[in-house]
Amino acid sequence: MSVLEAKEVRKQYKMGEHLVNALDGVDFQVEKGEFVAIMGPSGSGKSTLLHLLGGLDGPTEGNIILAGQPLARLSERKATLVRRHNVGFVFQFFNLLPTLSAEENILLPVIIDGKDQRKYKERLNSLLELVGLTDRRHHKPDQLSGGEQQRVAIARALVTEPAILLADEPTGNLDSKTGTLIMELLNRSCNELDQTVIVVTHDAKAAAYADRVIFLRDGVIVEELKPPKSMPLAERLRGIMGTMEKLEA
Ligand SMILES: Nc1ncnc2c1ncn2[C@@H]1O[C@H](COP(=O)(O)OP(=O)(O)OP(=O)(O)O)[C@@H](O)[C@H]1O
Ligand SMILES: [Mg+2]
Repeated sequence: MSVLEAKEVRKQYKMGEHLVNALDGVDFQVEKGEFVAIMGPSGSGKSTLLHLLGGLDGPTEGNIILAGQPLARLSERKATLVRRHNVGFVFQFFNLLPTLSAEENILLPVIIDGKDQRKYKERLNSLLELVGLTDRRHHKPDQLSGGEQQRVAIARALVTEPAILLADEPTGNLDSKTGTLIMELLNRSCNELDQTVIVVTHDAKAAAYADRVIFLRDGVIVEELKPPKSMPLAERLRGIMGTMEKLEA
């Protein structure tokens, strides 16, 4: 069963007199536990699609079905709740609160949701373990490296056990080695927690970790790769680079 679905989604932005077609009819389904990468040139609509999929913004036409609920038919309030309970977000700039420690940052969604943090002690410990930051839990963001801060952001996005993790260029501000660590971590969260993950990336090396790669151009999906699970990373990478070259030609 799909946990997330985009149905004939269009998104237009008004820029003074004229309209920008950021998404021009996107149909897309994601299965539980799937790891999907969204690629495409700058301005192709990747971030727009991710925002719509996560209910941060609404489509001009079409619908997003998140955890079985068509977002367009919900009130603003209900849509916020569905989003809060089903989606975790990770951004390029880690967006941590500077005055809070790593573990306090991770627990923030729990606090915002008015839940009892004590009930999340075990979840917190297992997430700190997953992201390899057990011994950094009391550090503030400025006492952590970029990669460590991004790992805190990932743990924070996962703390409430959202059905879906959405990440927009999560490796965009990291060196390539740290970026690889982050992608391996997202991959592990798919395999070990059966977490659904959707990542927007420019980086073919990052996309190679995904089960499926979709390519956007001018607001439409123009290509999709779904290599067999057994295909080695290097070969996946070649396939992705080949497709990128073909689309740029
Ligand atoms: N708030 C907005 N108002 C007007 N136009 C917008 C707005 N947000 C995005 N756009 C336009 O919509 C198109 C898609 O933008 P989007 O941010 O989704 O691209 P992207 O693929 O994420 O690009 P990048 O790789 O540079 O992040 C672009 O042409 C952009 O200029
Ligand atoms: Mg973008």
